Amino acid sequence: MSKEFKRTLITTALPYTNGPVHIGHLAGVYIPADIYARYLRLAGRPVVMIGGSDEHGVPITLKARAEGVTPQDIVDRYHALIKKSFEELGISFDIYSRTTSDIHSETASEFFRHLYDKGEFVEKTSEQLYDPQAKEFLADRYVTGECPHCHNPRAYGDQCEACGTSLNATDLINPKSAISNSPLELRPTHHWYMPLDKWEPALRQWILEGHKEWKSNVYGQCKSWLDMGLQPRAVSRDLSWGIPVPVEGAEGKVLYVWFDAPIGYISNTKELLPDSWEKWWKDPETRIINFIGKDNIVFHCIVFPAMLMAYGDGFQLPDNVPANEFLNLEGDKISTSRNWAVWLHEYLADFPGKQDVLRYVLTANAPETKDNDFTWRDFQARNNNELAAILGNFVNRVVILTHKYYNGVVPAAGELLDIDKTAYAELAGLRDSLTDNIENFHFREALKDAMGIARLGNKYLQDCEPWKVVKTDPERVKTVINVCTQICASIAVAMEPFMPFSSERLARTLGLGKLSWDMIGNADAVPAGTVLGAPELLFEKIDDDTIKAQTDRLERIKKENAVKAYQPEPVKAEINMPDFEKLDIRVGKVISCERVPKADKLLKFSIDDGTGTPRTIVSGIAQHYKPEELTGKQVCFIANLAPAKIRGVVSQGMILSALNADGSLKVISPASDATNGAQVK
Ligand code: MF3
Ligand code: ZN
Repeated sequence: MSKEFKRTLITTALPYTNGPVHIGHLAGVYIPADIYARYLRLAGRPVVMIGGSDEHGVPITLKARAEGVTPQDIVDRYHALIKKSFEELGISFDIYSRTTSDIHSETASEFFRHLYDKGEFVEKTSEQLYDPQAKEFLADRYVTGECPHCHNPRAYGDQCEACGTSLNATDLINPKSAISNSPLELRPTHHWYMPLDKWEPALRQWILEGHKEWKSNVYGQCKSWLDMGLQPRAVSRDLSWGIPVPVEGAEGKVLYVWFDAPIGYISNTKELLPDSWEKWWKDPETRIINFIGKDNIVFHCIVFPAMLMAYGDGFQLPDNVPANEFLNLEGDKISTSRNWAVWLHEYLADFPGKQDVLRYVLTANAPETKDNDFTWRDFQARNNNELAAILGNFVNRVVILTHKYYNGVVPAAGELLDIDKTAYAELAGLRDSLTDNIENFHFREALKDAMGIARLGNKYLQDCEPWKVVKTDPERVKTVINVCTQICASIAVAMEPFMPFSSERLARTLGLGKLSWDMIGNADAVPAGTVLGAPELLFEKIDDDTIKAQTDRLERIKKENAVKAYQPEPVKAEINMPDFEKLDIRVGKVISCERVPKADKLLKFSIDDGTGTPRTIVSGIAQHYKPEELTGKQVCFIANLAPAKIRGVVSQGMILSALNADGSLKVISPASDATNGAQVK
């Protein structure tokens, strides 16, 4: 299908540098792009893979303000962190640059200026919301106010989360700054707009007629945008952080981040290939593929293509935009601001040497056609039951048997029997399916094919039983071990795009030189006489404690978030003094405390209530306190609650606790020593 193309330019969405990257970014964009790039390289096809940081935009300025540092400090910090963690994960960018580079501001300015000079923009002055206190215009999402539809008082300028309507900030009733909380006023401001309506027919033709093969989620989103009708979009902003609008009299205005960022793909190609970058962008025989997440579809399929068409000069449009859906974490939407994420740099620190496990799990669970979920239990299960038990196990057995029977020297195969021929035929089938799936961006299925080779190997080895045959027909065993070794070589190549670190280790053990895609299925990939390296485990099991450390961390974050978002319960209906005086609340000291057998929530207390006769109270706080933690402490309890039988124990009262935002209970005690039996008034 792609033979007609001479070269492939792969771009990956430039991540915002207002935080580190997380597993959602990886599963959606960087791992699929890396699989594709590595596959093309193994297939001997020219490719460059372009990446970089997106360092402009409002969130970066807000983060800088919150920390009292400059935006440059913020982007320097996260650019370095992101770049390093991508490298450690083996994402094989040919360049990973940044949008604060000189070459980028020159390229983006020139791009704007060229469109300006060609008369491709429309200019408009309009009234926009201005924060007089912060002395700046506010982007829609930083404005809050009352929703004109459902009257939710806390709607955002771009959307009301209560009724789901998408809004313009100027629609809000009593708009306020979400940052400073101060009231806003309307002020006129002048901006440049990309007239997308003008490009609508060309875009319709290009996508709806010309690219019916695109993924249905991408095609569908484009179609719905186009069917709604395109409007002019502002490509400048009133901000101090960004690339200045290169037009006289445009002081205080910068290029909108979504105008400059995609041009970053071009700047970064220029930086990588100063002499030949044009052929990667302007030759129709180059194929451009944009890897992105679903929130970026409109910018890559509508806005940036319109910019490229307006620019002209031979710029090619993307051939495909295989955007992914979103990855959730343990059932909840990943969120940088709520710290609900598995951060790549933390994973790399917590799981040294296990890059491939993450790459494997995120590919196996990639949100290719719908949102998907990452869970730590699944991560552990896939490592233990698939990588260690199937792939690692097969390879290990083959290397061990070769050492045991032949001192590690790969024996020559004799005449192939049907079972051997069938194995090779199945291997060829898997290779073809694997190739086809990668070419069509079906990476999950492709990974299944690659694992299928290991499954095939295990089954072949099991069926051939060399450990039995060695006693009766030692010549036959040579063939079996030879075939197994060739299957291992196929595995080393087939898994390279997905798990490059393990592939490299395996290739070294097998004495393979430079890998190439056509080695998959080759019956002579490892020539007889090759001396194999020592057996080593490719994948180790991951134990429960390691997983628990991660799920505990998430539990902790969930609690912290609950505390931050806590809204006290509304106050109950009013009562009078006599109502209150009916309650007899007292202080008592815990004499002893023990668990109630077979009831994991209950503790049984014996309390000194000053009467001389200990009082028994059963309380449902066993998940919040260990029995010994409360022994000797004073607590408050309701003394006149009717006794009740709980699990066979008569409870004479109720111990008072506070129910906190995170769901924990804290027993109420007098602030300093009180008399046992004292009434609480
Ligand atoms: N920074 C954007 C995001 O994280 C992606 C920018 S992609 C580019 O959503 F095309 F603009 F570079
Ligand atoms: Zn609403």
